[in-house]
Amino acid sequence: MIQFKKTVASYIEKAVNVSFPGSELTASDFAAMLEYPPDTSMGDVALPCFKLSRSFRKAPPMIAETLAAGEYGPEISEVNAVSGYLNFKISNDYLTKDVLSAVLEKGEKYGSNESGKGKVCVLDYSSPNVAKPFHIGHLGTTVIGHSLKLLHEFAGYECIGINHLGDWGTQFGKMIVAFRKWGNKEEIEASGIDGLVALYVKFHAEAEADPALEDEARAEFKKLEQNDPENIELWKWIIGISLKEYEITYGQLGITFDSYNGESFYTDKMPAQVQKIRDAGILKIDDGASIVDLEEYGMPPCLILKKDGSTLYPTRDIAAAVYRKDTYKFDKCIYVTSAGQSLHFAQWFKVVSLMGYDWENSLIHVPYGTVSIDGAKLATRSGNVVLLRDLFQQAIDKVNAIIDEKNPDLPNKAETAEAVGVGAIVFHYLFNNRIKDINFSMDAALSFEGNTGPYAQYTYARTCSVLSKAGDFDRSAVPSLTEPDEAELLKVLALFPEKVESAIKEYEPSVITRYIIEVCSAFNRFYHNCQILSAEDEGVKNTRLLLTEAAKITLGNALRLICLKTPEKI
Ligand code: ARG
Repeated sequence: MIQFKKTVASYIEKAVNVSFPGSELTASDFAAMLEYPPDTSMGDVALPCFKLSRSFRKAPPMIAETLAAGEYGPEISEVNAVSGYLNFKISNDYLTKDVLSAVLEKGEKYGSNESGKGKVCVLDYSSPNVAKPFHIGHLGTTVIGHSLKLLHEFAGYECIGINHLGDWGTQFGKMIVAFRKWGNKEEIEASGIDGLVALYVKFHAEAEADPALEDEARAEFKKLEQNDPENIELWKWIIGISLKEYEITYGQLGITFDSYNGESFYTDKMPAQVQKIRDAGILKIDDGASIVDLEEYGMPPCLILKKDGSTLYPTRDIAAAVYRKDTYKFDKCIYVTSAGQSLHFAQWFKVVSLMGYDWENSLIHVPYGTVSIDGAKLATRSGNVVLLRDLFQQAIDKVNAIIDEKNPDLPNKAETAEAVGVGAIVFHYLFNNRIKDINFSMDAALSFEGNTGPYAQYTYARTCSVLSKAGDFDRSAVPSLTEPDEAELLKVLALFPEKVESAIKEYEPSVITRYIIEVCSAFNRFYHNCQILSAEDEGVKNTRLLLTEAAKITLGNALRLICLKTPEKI
């Protein structure tokens, strides 16, 4: 519809020049003023004339009526002035010639744009803390982050996905002590992260009775920091065990990263940045620790060095940002984390600008809300931890049972169950505004009815099945629309490019998720009300097949942008 708006706006500009000479408003001003009426029976786009009344010195209804008498081209089938609004209806001719042909021609590229051409976007997401459970709290950063990466790629950006692993810190001293005391290599290799977490839990239980263990852990971490070869080897092994498990989950989601440079990678890059903060004259000693005072900016101080000189989370992030700017020359660097970290990012973004760097505005924090499952809040420490791996498996099992019951002969059963089960969870999660707290309900996510992933993937599979039953058809035949549901479907498909734009502008994948439901409803209405394969007229059948193909293309592109797979049969 962006194109349609532009076309309408250029006619409005001409009509204004005739009726209100001297106006300085241009077609692009009018394009920005055009709205979508809540009720499409009034029109497909509308110009509210209220803002024009002062400069045109006329009442809005008069302006609308005057402009309605202007000259409009074949793209517009009706122009009406109603209570200060100028309403336009899109013509069927435009829908088939411009919209339908654009979708079919662009195919996998339909909806994309080139706003990011020549630009680099770094995305820091997922970033779990090694040797700790990868739980449902990480779902947000993982799927919002990856969807934003796909959206930016769709807009022509060169994207670099970074998994900023939490792979450094005193917890590794604890792991090393615990492993040497109670661990067994083969057992842990067989049990994966579970074995590591069990060791970690045991360490804390034992340390309560014997606080000397904490000192031992500190000493082991110190040795690790000093590159003790045995500790380094053990540390690498622990990371390897964790990564192996993350990669299973990433594989189910179709996610790959361009870099796994975690916190440890920046250890030798921090001193130079600490020096730079000092040189900028903003480093203050406060009770032995080194801080940057941010009172002037309404924030608590940013901690740079602890009393003992060791570095902190913000210090690492500052060094990482400088390294990424130097290495990737990014135009944007996006961080996706829970809203609980918003202050942390605001603080160190400010420090970066106080250090004299001029790219603070290209650092973007994208926060998201908390997740609870069927009502119970999830906290890592409460023991009520739902692992992402288990959540996915539960969904996959349920889908498998449904397939066994309804479609036991389905080929690629395992692959499809995984795509639908995992997809259901992702879709359910990405349906909400990211900043809202979410209550996760497995039953709602897995339902084949309503605003769900299975419903969307099922609709996609329906388009595939119609097309495969149709076999070859005449793609060059001139389409012509006969039923209102055909036009309505095309109008929805026409919205995709601007949905992509606003999802990127707002860093909000839910714009796409909700749009997918709009496409599904429009397609299903068309499917139920218009005969496709059994249409008597060859021309009508051809047009409907083209529409089905356009719906398939749009749905497929949109589903992939939110990390869902698109099985052709369910
Ligand atoms: N590992 C951190 C956590 O689990 C998230 C890291 C986010 N990225 C960053 N550059 N700070 O809370």
